[in-house]
Amino acid sequence: MPIIFDSEKKIFKLDTLNSSYIFEIYNESYLVHLYYGKKIPDYNLKDFPNRRMFASFSASNPHMDDWVFSADVFPLEIGCNGCGDMRISSLQIRNADGNASTDMRYVSHKIYKGKPALKGLPALYENEEGECETLEVTTRDCVTGAEALLLYTVFEKYSAITRSVIVKNTSDKPFSIEKVMSFNLDMNGKDFDLITLYGRHNNERNFERRPLSHGRQGIGSRRGSSSAQQNPFMALLRHGATEDYGDAYGFNLVYSCNHLCEIEVDFNNSSRVMMGIDPSDFSWKLAPGEEFYSPEAVLVYSDEGLGGMSRTFHKLYNNNLVRGPWKKAKRPLLINNWEGTYFDFDDDKLFDIAKWAKETGIEMLVMDDGWFGKRNDDTCALGDWEVNEDKLRGGIGSLVSRIKGLGLKFGIWYEPEMISPDSDLFRAHPDWHIHVPGRESSIGRHQYVIDMTRQDVRDYLFNKISEVLRNNDIDYVKWDFNRNITEAGSAILPPERQSEFFHRFILGTYELMGRILEAYPHILLENCSGGGGRYDPGMMYFSPQIWCSDNTDALSRVDIQFGSSLCYPASVQGAHVSASRRSGYETKRNVAMWGSFGYELDPGKISEEARAEIKTQIADYHKYYDLIHYGDLYRIISPWDDPYRVAWEFVSEDKREAMLTVVIKFFTEARNFFIKLKGLDSEKYYKCLEDGEVYSGALLMNAGISMFYYPDRDGESFALHFEEVK
Ligand code: GLA
Repeated sequence: MPIIFDSEKKIFKLDTLNSSYIFEIYNESYLVHLYYGKKIPDYNLKDFPNRRMFASFSASNPHMDDWVFSADVFPLEIGCNGCGDMRISSLQIRNADGNASTDMRYVSHKIYKGKPALKGLPALYENEEGECETLEVTTRDCVTGAEALLLYTVFEKYSAITRSVIVKNTSDKPFSIEKVMSFNLDMNGKDFDLITLYGRHNNERNFERRPLSHGRQGIGSRRGSSSAQQNPFMALLRHGATEDYGDAYGFNLVYSCNHLCEIEVDFNNSSRVMMGIDPSDFSWKLAPGEEFYSPEAVLVYSDEGLGGMSRTFHKLYNNNLVRGPWKKAKRPLLINNWEGTYFDFDDDKLFDIAKWAKETGIEMLVMDDGWFGKRNDDTCALGDWEVNEDKLRGGIGSLVSRIKGLGLKFGIWYEPEMISPDSDLFRAHPDWHIHVPGRESSIGRHQYVIDMTRQDVRDYLFNKISEVLRNNDIDYVKWDFNRNITEAGSAILPPERQSEFFHRFILGTYELMGRILEAYPHILLENCSGGGGRYDPGMMYFSPQIWCSDNTDALSRVDIQFGSSLCYPASVQGAHVSASRRSGYETKRNVAMWGSFGYELDPGKISEEARAEIKTQIADYHKYYDLIHYGDLYRIISPWDDPYRVAWEFVSEDKREAMLTVVIKFFTEARNFFIKLKGLDSEKYYKCLEDGEVYSGALLMNAGISMFYYPDRDGESFALHFEEVK
């Protein structure tokens, strides 16, 4: 039983393979957090949070002994605004009478097998009955009639817990939710480093580590997407913990829009952690009887440092987040024409690329931006989802048949949530773009964003995309999103609901994606947002792979992939070999192999030598597909530790096979060093396929491989494969 409730002591204990999460019902009303960390057998923690005596000025509940309890200092499972808890709130409701005091107390709870769906939202799911267990705690504000249901689902074998909150209006008056975070976790102590992933277009998910300090700290996005600037992920690493050892807590929000990931360290050195919808431009009106679902957050604990935390996320997401027929099926090896041709292509040009692709062993052609309307550059035509017959003579059908005739699959690019001011669609429906009356709309990449809160807009898009998918044998869709949202407003929402815009926008996007996949379940959907601007678990629920970054230069890409790997599995990471300037084709291949591999070039523009080299890469792609997609990732040398070289390793689950990849970013004379592998079986013997030698797992992990004999010039790289020998 992963969840137990001790009805005498009023304590909940949620156990996973390696972690325990414990809280109590204090004085029949407050939910007091007791512990989250390495698995412990017992829960004699009652006196743990007793800090009241250290707090002066903190107000307390008039019915309780104020030397013992104050909502300001006790670690709580929900942090409400305005009733004694002065830390950052996880719930704030503007009541019908205008005040924002909110006070949720325990009412009841249920423990059940399974996991409830979150209406309209992506979320982790269970594969077979009984895989998960859920605790649902109902809390209630007895003055306003607002209820908050706290959901905890335990994924026992992954040391993961998902959290979310459902707010209900059980009163007879409407109220507004001004802030609802998906969880509130009051950790004991502040001896942690905060790790986050910052970046920008072409340079996503850089690793940043800083010690927690008193007061508020955190990250967020107000861009209308989860963003390249701050991924909705954070980790807390106990001081002294490393890649391989010590307490690591990972937090990830299953959401693709504005988010806030915040921590406040209080005067008692307690750290309040929360994640959820960014409240700064959000409120949600809830009529009597209505309910509101927060997005889900995923909490992972590992005592094997950051590496253990990452591997847990990878397995969990491969098994319980990514869905559909492509979840475990082998994905087609693709070539995308974008970096090869940009907008300058026609059907013959694509056919030429496809012919070469077929001879080379590539399995799918993806036609990128520029096939519709008058789109010969990025200044126009988004929204005009009609084929451009000057480019594709005979329409999409004719091109698809030609490509299929070669025996390749076919993929197509869309950017459904956008509308160009210079488009027939905009001329017909100017009010369909997101805008604020009387204010000039900002422009980004010459485009506006379309109002996904509107059913008529979503129906239009569904029908337009359907016409193409229904009438043509298309296997893959690349779904792009290439700007931030500004002047956020909808022509159809009443003034008091304009603050619901961002959340309604993403619910609309999720609905359309879901509807398309339901109608065309065979489609492999690859998300993209100028590369990795929506590289988040919300999108991964629809999209088994996501274009990781527009930066395809292998030496930059490798850093982006390291950052991404903190939380997201290789199977999701779209990674292509391109004709980018730096590094040879071997390094391009070695880097792109760490992901959903493909090509992004015009074979007519690369050397004969490069084309020949690509042919040899394809066999390795097939050979190592499972190892990379489903093996365990070990970061051996990370870019945040070493500016000169990076190394990573995949180990199969049965530990019979491994692949070590090393990339020399900059040559240094200090190259007399050994790389120690990780995650092997120390009892097993492995043959290195490159040097033909046999080594014990113990030797490889403790003595390591000397790097002296391997490439050592800027931009060079190598991969070593190890197979068990009996
Ligand atoms: C974005 C994507 C690219 C490409 C272009 C097309 O930048 O990230 O891969 O699809 O749009 O305009």
